[in-house]
Amino acid sequence: MKTRAALLFSQPGKWEVTDVELDEPKQHEVLVRLMAAGLCHSDDHLATGDVPSGHFPYCGGHEGAGVVEKVGSAVRSLQPGDHVVLSFVPSCGRCRWCSQGLQNLCDNGAMMLTGCQLDGTFRMHVGGKDVAQAAMTGTFSQYTVVSEWGCIKIDDDIPFAEASLVGCGVPTGWGSAVAASGVKPGDVHIVMGVGGIGINAVQGAKHAGASVIIAVDPVPFKRDSALAFGATHAFETIEEAGDFARSVTGGQGADSAVVSVGVVRSEHVGQAFSTIRKAGTLAVTGVSNIAEVGIPVSLFELSMFQKRIQGVLFGCLSPAHDVPRLLNLYKAGQLKLTELISREYTLDEINQGYEDMHAGRNIRGVIRFDQ
Ligand SMILES: NC(=O)c1ccc[n+]([C@@H]2O[C@H](COP(=O)([O-])OP(=O)(O)OC[C@H]3O[C@@H](n4cnc5c(N)ncnc54)[C@H](O)[C@@H]3O)[C@@H](O)[C@H]2O)c1
Ligand SMILES: [Zn+2]
Ligand SMILES: [Zn+2]
Repeated sequence: MKTRAALLFSQPGKWEVTDVELDEPKQHEVLVRLMAAGLCHSDDHLATGDVPSGHFPYCGGHEGAGVVEKVGSAVRSLQPGDHVVLSFVPSCGRCRWCSQGLQNLCDNGAMMLTGCQLDGTFRMHVGGKDVAQAAMTGTFSQYTVVSEWGCIKIDDDIPFAEASLVGCGVPTGWGSAVAASGVKPGDVHIVMGVGGIGINAVQGAKHAGASVIIAVDPVPFKRDSALAFGATHAFETIEEAGDFARSVTGGQGADSAVVSVGVVRSEHVGQAFSTIRKAGTLAVTGVSNIAEVGIPVSLFELSMFQKRIQGVLFGCLSPAHDVPRLLNLYKAGQLKLTELISREYTLDEINQGYEDMHAGRNIRGVIRFDQ
């Protein structure tokens, strides 16, 4: 069948919306009609070339929700009509990582940058060439074919735009505070970079009981948004945040901090490292250019102050367990999802959506396919 999809043909490149040939789902795959897709900064890293893709053309998008239209012959977990959130690692449930509750690190993630399906072949094609699907999902498309293990069934009454964000931005940010930083009641927590990821770290820190949540972002709209989502203080620079954290902790510093800047540079990590206390945790969630190496931190301070730097993928959470958990919080009125959506776009407006993200106008932009 044919589908319209936003593709990159080179790096750096702009999204080009074009007709793509989509194969039938194989044995353990499903055809999904996308209803909404979030514009995560991670897809932009592919457009700028910060993160290389192993394969072009490349269909973007890994945050999405939609309806299952057709299932492969061996699929038992889903049926046509099911509403699903797509998750960017189709976790196998059996590998070393999955079996200890680290589905986010499933060995199936090895295919993420190549963008093929689990059998090593591609489902999208254009002009006789195979098309990679971002993180094996490819949600910047009216229809996509994905592994059944990359789908998380959700209740029919959850709106699709809200659900789409629980495919990446919400768990990644929320888990950065709750799981990676291990925020505890009464903690002082810093979030550096308040986009679609950082704003959810603010929500997570609030749920975990932090009494001081300090948001850092150079954009005034982001700081105002952070305060509306539960931050208690907001500053333009990480230095001001560090000074404030020390001022409320008798000079000790923040219990933990999350780096969720759009393009992380080594100095961001160094700056955030100096804001945390002895035995504090720094969670690094934002992605940097693939060539960036080294972190300018005092190695003496690292060992003598027993500080911890924690890398974070998908908020250190497991999609099959945590996507439903987050949607339960939303249903209970405890997690803001609708408020995350700054603006909705058609698929054809995708480059405008990313321009708005770069200009600091969006917490999250969302593509709606039903408009
Ligand atoms: N680790 C993961 O699993 C994972 C998952 C999704 C996204 N990400 C990454 O997280 C990062 C954030 O994604 P996003 O979608 O929220 O991006 P975004 O562009 O929406 O937000 C980034 C924010 O950082 C702010 N910022 C820029 N420089 C700053 C600085 N020096 N100090 C403080 N704030 C600064 C920007 O103003 C912006 O508000 C990206 O690198 C993205 O690729 C990681
Ligand atoms: Zn993402
Ligand atoms: Zn696995």
